[in-house]
Amino acid sequence: MYCRPGFERDCAQEAYLHALRQGAELRIAEAVENSGYVRLEGRARAPDWSALVFARQALSLLAMVELPERDRLTPLLDALPAQPAVFADVWLEMPDTNDGKALSAFTRRFAPLLQDALIDQRRLGGRPDGPRLHVFFPDKQRAWLALGDPRLSAPWPMGILRLRMPPDAPSRSALKLAEAFDMFLSAEDQQRYLHDGLRAVDLGAAPGGWTWQLLRRGLRVIAVDNGPLKGMVAEHPWVTHLRTDGFRFRPDRPVDWVVCDMVEKPSRVATLMANWLIGDHARHAMFNLKLPMKKRQEALESALNDIETLMQAHDIRYRLSVKQLYHDREEVTVYLGREARPRRNGNSKRR
Ligand SMILES: C[S@@+](CC[C@H](N)C(=O)[O-])C[C@H]1O[C@@H](n2cnc3c(N)ncnc32)[C@H](O)[C@@H]1O
Repeated sequence: MYCRPGFERDCAQEAYLHALRQGAELRIAEAVENSGYVRLEGRARAPDWSALVFARQALSLLAMVELPERDRLTPLLDALPAQPAVFADVWLEMPDTNDGKALSAFTRRFAPLLQDALIDQRRLGGRPDGPRLHVFFPDKQRAWLALGDPRLSAPWPMGILRLRMPPDAPSRSALKLAEAFDMFLSAEDQQRYLHDGLRAVDLGAAPGGWTWQLLRRGLRVIAVDNGPLKGMVAEHPWVTHLRTDGFRFRPDRPVDWVVCDMVEKPSRVATLMANWLIGDHARHAMFNLKLPMKKRQEALESALNDIETLMQAHDIRYRLSVKQLYHDREEVTVYLGREARPRRNGNSKRR
């Protein structure tokens, strides 16, 4: 599994518990702090990446190869198991660390050699929905061959959904909300729930990256923050800026979305968001839960339990999806939406 460097223990523990709940036992074999990846061993398939909060990617390990200084290609090809016979694609990857980045010049040179060799052996070019071959380099001396099931793994190299910073966005946080929409909502849901004419409230809006992201999609926004908005967001006719407390504010009439990026205890934000939906102030919520330095798992579990308890007590059908996004640091992003009918979603964390 790949994860944000510094979250290896969270990632490994979560995967371990996830497997246990499904009746499988895994052993945490490698979870070195700040390495950006973890390895678990046991009789279990790779978990569905979308059901996990801290995993950016989840793959089934095929082989671990020691690489010589010269001719790294031959031992890799020799280690490739006979099955699956053909891969849809091959991705060369490394940890999302400075050491990992230093490998990118090497992988760029090596990738065409490996692709050509796999094509020669007729092992590349399978159906696009077939298994992907991942060659992960923990360092230059080692390569791990792994299998990515396209239904259960992240569809982005290194599990990172890369987005370009829009030049006129007031803060880099704009990317976080864009990533959250892409992570949690299908293209169809985005068309349905994010379009011209809808209304949103942005709690803790300044300097305005999230508001900017909502405006881009045609929504009118009430931006709540004592701080100033910046750039075009500050002047935009569709933005109403209210300098008031985001925990007390409620709109006069229901809005479609509430988004919240206030730095507060996770349980306080979680309860606030659940109450917005229960009170019918909004139908969809997207928010950050800032994790404490210690006991991150416990704080997160407790905040999510609060949401579930509240929603169930009010007999509201909902979808709850949680992920540590690439643009999240010491935090995770949550989507909570009211549902007309019960529906299982790949990204949902249902416990
Ligand atoms: C991380 S920043 C938000 C960044 C914003 N999402 C963006 O994209 O630019 C957190 C903001 O929450 C605001 N904030 C914190 N507590 C608040 C409260 N009780 N009511 C309103 N705003 C609050 C702060 O003033 C700060 O501007």
